[in-house]
Amino acid sequence: MPQSPIMKHLTLLTLPLLVAAAPAPLDKRQMTGMTGKMGGAGAAFSILTGLWQVPAGNPQVPLSTKALVADIDTKAKRELLLWGPFILPAKNATHGRGVGIKLDPNSDAFGAKLSGLCKDCTVLFAEADIANKDGSRADVGTGIYTHHIIMVDYGRKMIDNPVLPHCGTTGATGISPTTAQWLQNNLMPKASVFIGGGGSGGSGGQFAVKGSDVKSGFHIAEKDSMLFTTELVNYDNWDKEIYLRLDYEYLTGKPQGYLDVGIGAIDVDGCTASLEFHPPSDRAITIKSPVWEVIADGYLVRITPHLHDGGVDAKIFLNGEHVCTSNAIYGTSEGTREIDGKKWETISGYTPCSNAIKIKKGDRLTMTSDYDLTKYTL
Ligand SMILES: *[C@@H]1O[C@H](CO)[C@@H](O)[C@H](O)[C@H]1NC(C)=O
Repeated sequence: MPQSPIMKHLTLLTLPLLVAAAPAPLDKRQMTGMTGKMGGAGAAFSILTGLWQVPAGNPQVPLSTKALVADIDTKAKRELLLWGPFILPAKNATHGRGVGIKLDPNSDAFGAKLSGLCKDCTVLFAEADIANKDGSRADVGTGIYTHHIIMVDYGRKMIDNPVLPHCGTTGATGISPTTAQWLQNNLMPKASVFIGGGGSGGSGGQFAVKGSDVKSGFHIAEKDSMLFTTELVNYDNWDKEIYLRLDYEYLTGKPQGYLDVGIGAIDVDGCTASLEFHPPSDRAITIKSPVWEVIADGYLVRITPHLHDGGVDAKIFLNGEHVCTSNAIYGTSEGTREIDGKKWETISGYTPCSNAIKIKKGDRLTMTSDYDLTKYTL
């Protein structure tokens, strides 16, 4: 390892799997049916190529750039960029294969190259949302469901997860971690996920812990280029003009002492052996992960789970000691919509782990996740 890798977003996405993205037909929001359709190496390939697919055309120039007040570091710049419009076809239109990862038959997937982001800069915070023309978030409240938004920095080498992978040769992708690693190193262009996530809580998050002695950020080099892909569902029978918004904060250059951050994901079942997930409807359950062996020194920054509706929290343990809890936040006005007179609440966000967790080679990492469908109906 050339430098201390830092891992964040324990359950977001990494090279092989974006699968955490919740599926979304309104009446069927769990992962049902996906294993059958998506299982095997074909799925893995489609996810891999989807993740690295470069949308055609020239980079999109931001429609607007608005200065905001820095939050994490007073020396930083914070901006709200808006790109678009992009057309999201009507619900009753034909939903063909698009650019990027598409897991839902009712969705549309598309993307673009983006310009307007900082160059040779260290990003402390970045959050992307699908937005309306005025910059407000477009969400289930406005009849749009965001499966995921992915932004990839082309030219930046990916920082590997600092834990030993668990799966053997099986798992939903049908490929082994070593094969995935080989694909990444030999076939895939040098690229790092900058933002990845979905649901109605926005995508992305912080690469730094505010106020911490541990200084970290995501470095974008001068020569790097940025692109995004997204998978969206339109709940209305009319086309919609939608926009991509990015709220981000950065320092110029790469200030001394700052550690570079990589985004990684590990799945609570160890290797996503099954995407099908059916928590019982009549009682709460706790899902326990296997034990991961830490293989690099560094810090875990801003661990944020990706839970499915019904999820309560995710707890992280280091060498058996409880080091953080992240709770799901349900149903803000943006994450709520009436469907056939029934209130439909989705997870709208998470309380992230707010401290930098020091890890070193040989440590053991585990997590648990509580689900309770008696509290949160699907
Ligand atoms: C979709 O629904 C709208 C509104 O009901 C209708 O005007 C339109 O023709 C429909 N389009 C298709 C392709 O069925």
